[in-house]
This record gives sequence, structure tokens and C-alpha cells, in this order.
Amino acid sequence: MMLLTFVVLLTAAVPSALASGTTGTSDSKKLVLGTSADFAPYEFHKVINGKDEIVGFDIAIAKEIAADLGVELVIEDMGFDGLLPALQSGRVDIVISGMTPTEDRKKSIDFSDTYYKSKQVIMVRNEDKDKYPTMAELENEKIGAQKGSIQETIGQKIPGVKLTSLDKISDIVLQLQTKRINAAIVEDTVAAGYLDDMIGLAPAVPDEEQVAAAIGIRKGNTELLNAVNGTLERLKSENKIDQMVTEASQLMADREVESPNIFEVFWQYKSFYATGVGYTLLLSALGVIFGVIIGLIICLFRMHDTAILRWIGTAYVEVIRGTPMLVQLMIIYYGLALTFGITFSPLQAGILTLSINSGAYLAEIFRAGIQGVDRGQLEAARSLGMGRAAAMRFIILPQAFKAVLPAIGNEFVTIIKESSIISVIGMVDIMYQASVVKNITYQGMNPFLIAAAIYFVLTFILSKLLGRLERKLSASDRR
Ligand code: ARG
Repeated sequence: MMLLTFVVLLTAAVPSALASGTTGTSDSKKLVLGTSADFAPYEFHKVINGKDEIVGFDIAIAKEIAADLGVELVIEDMGFDGLLPALQSGRVDIVISGMTPTEDRKKSIDFSDTYYKSKQVIMVRNEDKDKYPTMAELENEKIGAQKGSIQETIGQKIPGVKLTSLDKISDIVLQLQTKRINAAIVEDTVAAGYLDDMIGLAPAVPDEEQVAAAIGIRKGNTELLNAVNGTLERLKSENKIDQMVTEASQLMADREVESPNIFEVFWQYKSFYATGVGYTLLLSALGVIFGVIIGLIICLFRMHDTAILRWIGTAYVEVIRGTPMLVQLMIIYYGLALTFGITFSPLQAGILTLSINSGAYLAEIFRAGIQGVDRGQLEAARSLGMGRAAAMRFIILPQAFKAVLPAIGNEFVTIIKESSIISVIGMVDIMYQASVVKNITYQGMNPFLIAAAIYFVLTFILSKLLGRLERKLSASDRR
């Protein structure tokens, strides 16, 4: 317990590099905007002068609101279906994300006046265009829509459809390209950004005619609501919104036509991967260190004379080894926070999970090593007059360590690879950055091949180093 407290304290000092959440609570000088930046030209990622930025006409509007309020704008990018909870819980102050003010949503948040209108369309692979003249042909079809969006609701109403709901529009397009779904429901303005040789629009049109976008504000925050409506009114009277839409659409259209090859992708996004490597190494190194400590303690427990300690040690190993690390991570990150109010940052939760998990495996490795040393060794040491502790320290442990070094090395390599799981809670590691690059470039393969290469290089270097240590230690065997 002391150990874990220590981990938590230690990592609290590390600047939080969470994908979400630069500010836990909103203070008065900042306006925290929640958005799902997969929705060009509303809001999307764009590399400008080598830096990833979130742009779009929603963002331009947000900047005007912040300027009118005289505060700094902070943008939080998250899944579309996470926006309402984020607004309600106060993690963000305002939601601008092409969000339609539906009756359902109005139950939990307030909306500004509307600022933009759009229509729904059906996106398909060009070769399938003629398959869907009307909505009736979409029945029983495999289709996709964004999770938590009104498009999802439209999709759910089509009889017999198999609906795939995903966080990000780019993922839906990827599903369409890879033929996992055959059609997707999207807004016309947004679909425009994805149309190319492969992706087009079907003639079918969903019933819902025009939908509008409005700005979401926490219930009862009338002051902010009035300010937002004030800014919107000014922008409308100055004809600024149309201008912002045009600019954002141009920015969207001028994405590179030729898709860069893997080396270009790597070079262009090297800083993304570099950040990822930093966090993967930090995560794995601390995971290994605390894993070894936990492993030693559990190993001692398992071999102790006291039955209850032996029992605790065995239970630990069995439970941790018998449950998936992803589940353990969810319990530590979400479970503890929602049930006991113990809130860990993604980095803290990641280190805890990795060390608790690898502790179980390392404990078994240590035990195997110690038990593998011939009993005669202990007897010989004792008969030479060594105490139990001295015999352990000078005779048993050195031999045990040498014997299990390859197994320990294996475990370290595993930790580096498994740390990629922590990306699901927004830890900015190599895996996370690969997904970010995927969302920006719309490429499904290269970003992950690059990640694979980086993981391989890391683990390869590590196993070479361990091999060297092994040879050094075995020098005495050959004498
Ligand atoms: N207008 C639709 C809705 O309110 C879709 C909005 C999706 N927005 C986004 N940023 N992905 O449900």
C-alpha cells in the first residue's frame, strides 16, 4: 500500500500529458471547449507548419466567443458521445461540435440559437452508387454512423439494419473503405470532405430534412448562454459565419491529394511518435521497477512459513494472472473513480496496472528461480557455517537470478508491448499517437506499421542488452 501511494505521489508530479483534461475544473480565465474534431469543416485536425492543430468554423466561432468574453480558449477533443457528460460534469464549459439541439439532449443541457443548417446523406463506395436509389434499399444492410449522434438514431430506425456505431467519422470511412459496412449516414457538409475516387454519395435521402447546429451550455448557466447568443448574433449580422464556413471548407479541401508513403508519414509526424516513445518508456520503466518490487514481495509471501501469507501470495498471483489486463485497467481507472472517488490520471492508472499485473508474473519467475537451485547448495552453505540469510544472499539468490534472467527479460519485453493497452484511457503512448496519425492522415496501415517498427526496435534493443548481461553472468560457468 505504501508502495502504491508512493507511485501515485510520484506520478502526480509528472506534468499531465493526458489526451483529455488539461484543466480538471474550469477557472474564470479560461473557456474550455469540448468538441469531437473529426467533423470537417466544423472541426478537424490539420497539420499547419508541422504542428497538429484543431481548426474549422466551429473553432472560429469559439474563438470569437472567447474573445468577446476576454478569456483564453482551451480545446478538448473527445468522442462525440462523451461531450454531454463532459459538459454536465463541468469538465468543459461549452460544447461546439456541430451538435443538433434535439429534444432529448435539451433534457440534460441548454442550447444557444442555431448557427448552421445541414442535410443528411448516404455515403457509399462509388461502385455501389446505384444500389441505393431510396432509403428502402438500406434495409437489412450493414451501415455505420457516429456513436451518440442523430445519424445513429436515424440508422436505428431502418428495419433490419446492422448498425456499427463508432466514435470517429474517420473510423466509419475506414470501415466503408474496407467493406465492413456498405453505407454510412453523415451530414452533407461533412461527407464532402471524404468524397474521392472511392467514396461517393448514394441518391437515397434520409427522411429527416434539415438539421441545425447549436452550441451546448450547462443547464442554468444563463450568463454564458446570453453571452454566446450575443456573439452569434453579432457574427450573423456581420455575415461572418458564412465566411468562416467558406474558409474552413477551403482548408478541408486542400488536404494533400496524394497520400504520403510510409517514410513521409513517419517524417511528417515524427514529433507525434517521439512523444509516444517518451511516454511508453516512462510507463514501462516505472511499471518494471514497481513490478519487480511487488513481485519480490509476493514471492516472499508465497514461500513463507506462515500459511496465511502463503495464501495471500497465491491468491494474488492467481487472480491477477487469471484476469485480462484491460479489465484490470478499467477497474483501476474508472471503477475506483466512480465507486470510491479515487481518481487516478491515465499515467498513474497505467503504471499501477502494469506493475500490479507484471508483479504476479515476476513473483512466479522469482519463485521458480529460487526453488530451482539445488537443495544441496543450501545445505553446503549451512554446513560451512553460514546463517540462513547469508546463504540466501551469497549462494542461492545469485544462482537463481542467473537462471531466471531470460524469463525476466521476456517479462520486460512483454511490459513494453502490453503498455499499448493503456492508450485506451487516453495515455499518449506510441499506440495512442498512431491512432491520432491515423485520424489525421486517413491512412489505415502506415501509422500502425510505424508504431510496430518502433515497438520492435525498443524490444529488440532491450533483448540485446539483456543477452549481453546474460553472457557476462554466465562467464563463471565456463571456468
Ligand atoms: N449533427 C449531428 C448530431 O448532433 C452530428 C454531429 C457530430 N459532430 C461531430 N463533431 N462529430 O448528432
